[in-house]
Amino acid sequence: MTWPNIRDDLKLFEGYHSPQLAVEVRLNTNESPLPPPNQWVSEIQREVTTIEWNRYPDRNAFELSSQLAQSHGVQPNNVVSANGSNEIIQAILLAYGGNNRSAIIFEPTYAMHAQIAKITGTEIISCDREESLLCGRSGLETLTTAKPNIVFLCSPNNPTGLIEPKETIISALEYCSKNSSLLVVDEAYGEFSDWSAIELVDNGAPIVVTRTFSKAHGFAAGRLGYAVGATRLIDGMKEVLLPYHLDSFKQIAGITALKYRSEMTQRVEYLKSQREKVSNELKNLPLHVWDSAANFILFKPLDTVDMSGNDLWKALVNDSVLVRDCSNWPNLTDCLRATIGTEQENNSFIDSLKAILG
Ligand SMILES: Cc1ncc(COP(=O)(O)O)c(C=O)c1O
Repeated sequence: MTWPNIRDDLKLFEGYHSPQLAVEVRLNTNESPLPPPNQWVSEIQREVTTIEWNRYPDRNAFELSSQLAQSHGVQPNNVVSANGSNEIIQAILLAYGGNNRSAIIFEPTYAMHAQIAKITGTEIISCDREESLLCGRSGLETLTTAKPNIVFLCSPNNPTGLIEPKETIISALEYCSKNSSLLVVDEAYGEFSDWSAIELVDNGAPIVVTRTFSKAHGFAAGRLGYAVGATRLIDGMKEVLLPYHLDSFKQIAGITALKYRSEMTQRVEYLKSQREKVSNELKNLPLHVWDSAANFILFKPLDTVDMSGNDLWKALVNDSVLVRDCSNWPNLTDCLRATIGTEQENNSFIDSLKAILG
């Protein structure tokens, strides 16, 4: 017997994996530390009993799109949902990337933009961020030389937590409008920041904003994400999504989640206040700390500390605290990223850091 070979261009991929270790404090994947409200879960359970399991789901997820559209002040045909925002990103790249097309990313950023681009045969143009870790003027200038078909901006950016200034997003959109390119703004952490590029969405603008229920809504297990953009862009994405890709359970869960928006906002406010507390504590330690507009914080040991980022990560793991080791990611030497947890988890994390850093 001889085995079929995987595509040659996939062989060199490392994939995107966050090690899952059995620890007491898990602050490595930017999930919400809080489960969704009990009433939401009970309501979903009740609604699930109404599903006709022998029938396919509503192919266009119309009710979910309508509710999402209403929440963002757009029309239902400006919205499409999928199995997590990763599937949304895949649909964007399948429809607007692919063979002989390119996408630009600004490193360091969310690794799956490049990973999914490669899987879809889209050429990746990797551009370094400025020292501030923002895309900045130099990033915008690169657009005119690199001429990408797709421009990825992530705001707040994972793993830096920084929001891209509104002017940068507007300038990138202007470039895209004049050059038949598509601007994708990944707002997986948008609920934690004060401004959203969704306000730039218009049927005449080549911008798609991606969102997820995995973070602020505390629904990572359910795998639900969506995009908001011009109708013709959304229609293009629908062309490549599989028929009936969004199951009935997920549609119900999303519609129900939107009824509990005020509870979600309260949770976001709690996590933001925890973020400020953790950030202040980290700044009192021999660490460089980036200000975050998301539910995680990027930091690294100062030169005065005789420890690499990876040493610090291992010491935290020994103390049963798991954060994300970003120290071998592009432009992030020695950096670690900690998700904001519950007050108790955050206190354990800070206590461990204090003990390790003396
Ligand atoms: C910036 C960013 N975009 C998208 C995603 C994917 O989210 P989802 O769970 O909706 O696929 C993540 C997940 O960590 C993320 O950090």
